Amino acid sequence: MTELLVRGGLVYGPDGPVEADVHVTDGVITRVEAGGAAPDGAMIVDATGMYVLPGAIDVHVHSRDPGFPEKEDFGTLTAAAAMGGVTTVLDMPNTVPAVDAAGVLEAKAALARPKARVDFGLWGLVRSSSTVEQLEGLAAAGAVGFKAYLGYSFSTSRKQVLQSTDADGAELEAPPDYGTLARLAPVLARLGLPLAIHAEDPAILAAFRRPLESYADLLDSRPPEAEAVAISASAAIAKESGVHLHVAHLSSALGLRAAQDAMRAGTRLTLETGPQYLWLSDQDFARLGTAMKVFPPVRTAADRDALVEAAASGVIRIVATDHAPHTDEEKSRPFEHAPSGSPGVQTLYLSCLELAKRLGDVSLAPRWVSEGPAELAGLRETKGAIAIGFDADLVIVDPNRKTQLRPALMRSRQRHGALDAREFGFAVSDVFLRGRPVVRDGKLVGRAAGRMVRPLGSR
Ligand code: DOR
Ligand code: ZN
Repeated sequence: MTELLVRGGLVYGPDGPVEADVHVTDGVITRVEAGGAAPDGAMIVDATGMYVLPGAIDVHVHSRDPGFPEKEDFGTLTAAAAMGGVTTVLDMPNTVPAVDAAGVLEAKAALARPKARVDFGLWGLVRSSSTVEQLEGLAAAGAVGFKAYLGYSFSTSRKQVLQSTDADGAELEAPPDYGTLARLAPVLARLGLPLAIHAEDPAILAAFRRPLESYADLLDSRPPEAEAVAISASAAIAKESGVHLHVAHLSSALGLRAAQDAMRAGTRLTLETGPQYLWLSDQDFARLGTAMKVFPPVRTAADRDALVEAAASGVIRIVATDHAPHTDEEKSRPFEHAPSGSPGVQTLYLSCLELAKRLGDVSLAPRWVSEGPAELAGLRETKGAIAIGFDADLVIVDPNRKTQLRPALMRSRQRHGALDAREFGFAVSDVFLRGRPVVRDGKLVGRAAGRMVRPLGSR
């Protein structure tokens, strides 16, 4: 029996927008077509004049949970996600203890579940010391894929991935390098899970290190060559093993070209970029300050334009946020010492809808934040589209109401983001997770009922 009927909206299905009603039974979409009587007992939502979109899957968030409750936790992360129409988040493994083995992943899932307002998946970590058994264990425990932070040391005493600034007194293990990738890529290929990389070549970063007094210093210290080399080298390794290589947060035109070369050579490679790289350039630093300090950095207008073009043409198939909250105190430190990272999960969909509209095709937005991500996450049979048999993760958006991004609207513990003060010509009205309301009329409702997702087709 239909339990939810979303009526009269413009439904963004896999083949573009159609006026249709969406019927939901047991949390699953059972009918997408116009007309017909309303079944008895169903919750009826009038979506006349609204867009009905598939829930976003943000494949790159940092919940900080467990590890840094002052920055964020699973409750605040998923409240922000729900408010922005993100119905699934994939959490990165640099929580503490880092997710480098099955037991850690299971404990993290148990801790996240009672706080999760949306569904979640968990990435596993690749360390230079990772064993085949550890990776197999993580896959069996449900990891959506593996992340290698090229150049980021690991503190064995703190069980923590380190940003270079916080290594004081820690016992260090060498960062994963191309040797690590070459050793482990065949294992990940066999497991059928993607290998995501933080693509900044450590040798190039080391050669360009300098004090950071200005934004120009930051750009000089992390040149696009670092991204391009990391992509080319990792892709050469990936191609041999057949592993699916995923490039997180692509930031430069040079990196894009390296990735396209690798794709043309037959490497199985997907690209992700983020709203900060699609909306901002170095020119915004004067206005935003450390709020836009992220690694890799936001670069020039030419880089931004190349990324927008690649997203518009489908070369970049995934937009994800790298939602990386820090406290106000941390972000107000002098530029050199402020940690990198900015929140963004709540503004992902709105910013993508606005950009897609400006590019002349709103349906690009659900492709970037839902369809492409579902494929990466191994969820393409249950999420990522409004179609029969899929989870009823539905987002109702008002295309005639503006949203101005203000800290007071934000549900993340870090309320100041890189897109602060922007205005987008859409507003999220209602959000359903597997048919259950999580946001009604722009307000959080219900309790935390998120589930852990596991990739299909992994072994
Ligand atoms: O700016 C960043 N912050 N880039 C990363 O890759 C990590 C992230 C974080 O965890 O703060
Ligand atoms: Zn990240």
